[in-house]
Amino acid sequence: MRIGLCGGGQLAQMLSLAGHPLGLRCVAYAQDAGDPACAVGAFELGGWDDDDALDRFAARVDLVTFEFENVPRRAVERLAARVPVRPSIEALDTAADRVSEKSLFRRLGIGTAPFEAVDSQADLVRALASIGLPAVLKTRRMGYDGKGQKVLRAPGDVSSAFAELGGHPCILEGFVPFRRELSVVGVRGLNGEVAVYPLFENRHRDGVLRVSTSPALCSPSLEAEAHRAMRAVLEALDYVGVLAVELFEIEGGLLANEMAPRVHNSAHLTSEGHETSQFENHLRAVAGWPLGSTRPLGHAGMVNLLGAVPDAATGSGAGSVLAVEGAHVHLYGKAPRPGRKVGHVTVRAADAAARDAALARVVALLGA
Ligand SMILES: Nc1ncnc2c1ncn2[C@@H]1O[C@H](COP(=O)(O)OP(=O)(O)O)[C@@H](O)[C@H]1O
Ligand SMILES: [Mg+2]
Repeated sequence: MRIGLCGGGQLAQMLSLAGHPLGLRCVAYAQDAGDPACAVGAFELGGWDDDDALDRFAARVDLVTFEFENVPRRAVERLAARVPVRPSIEALDTAADRVSEKSLFRRLGIGTAPFEAVDSQADLVRALASIGLPAVLKTRRMGYDGKGQKVLRAPGDVSSAFAELGGHPCILEGFVPFRRELSVVGVRGLNGEVAVYPLFENRHRDGVLRVSTSPALCSPSLEAEAHRAMRAVLEALDYVGVLAVELFEIEGGLLANEMAPRVHNSAHLTSEGHETSQFENHLRAVAGWPLGSTRPLGHAGMVNLLGAVPDAATGSGAGSVLAVEGAHVHLYGKAPRPGRKVGHVTVRAADAAARDAALARVVALLGA
């Protein structure tokens, strides 16, 4: 079976690599032959407004899926007229807009921060009257890694905030004084079968994911609450594939922050940490195949490599992270650029203390 991947980044690269041993051949729809996915598998080059290239892409595959949720709707519709598209256009649309995704959470009884749509500076002032400070103003669409958002702490932060985000449609959210950030990642097959991974605990720096660990240490009731939320969203969207929901842990429970209709950075450690990786499970789901077990194989952690690949991620000897027991390096082959995700390192150990020690050694060696 041939699977089309919209996007040529590292997520498409890891999907392509995961498909190969299963006999699933991925074709990435990429912008540039230098994109990460193009180094490891077949690809078609084109932009989202290039109908001929989209048609060539569709002709080469049996179905299409996504490494990224912001594919223009027109392009998705053109592909959907030719081959099955999984997850659906509706699911992508919901996840691509912060107001739609939070409205879905609310409709399903999943807690969120208070929020209001903001289309002008006057809307912002009105919304602040009910939400109050501190608050976070975010563009509704296209934000990632903390880009396109502004924390409003004092009245002085408000006056130019809407213009500073480019005058795009926004959402204002109450600032959540969370204890921890968690994510829940699940997968739903074509026949409605569902599997959910144990929770991931995520630490961010400057809005970018830095370190994830799993299984997150938490009470069974917290885990159950997150799994219930995941199942509710998967069912509501008649979803096919891997879905991630980012969560804030607060006193007394969880709030859902956003969802990603694709494989997610916090679950990269499933490659070594779990019976079946998120990449393999996504492909199994969209192919209509049985899902794989989400059972943890131990306690796993991951640290993102940002900016450039440190020597310690590739070098030999005691200074190399490869000398740390249970450590595995994944490099995407991307050119260095400040803040850019260029790879990640995972560790797995028998217990959480050994995992944390290995992760600390890796972080120290990377100078991260
Ligand atoms: N309402 C909020 N209250 C407190 N912190 C927030 C809030 N929204 C986002 N953040 C912080 O900013 C990070 C990035 O925001 P997020 O909504 O996940 O956008 P994206 O990941 O798409 O850039 C979150 O992981 C969290 O650390
Ligand atoms: Mg996020």
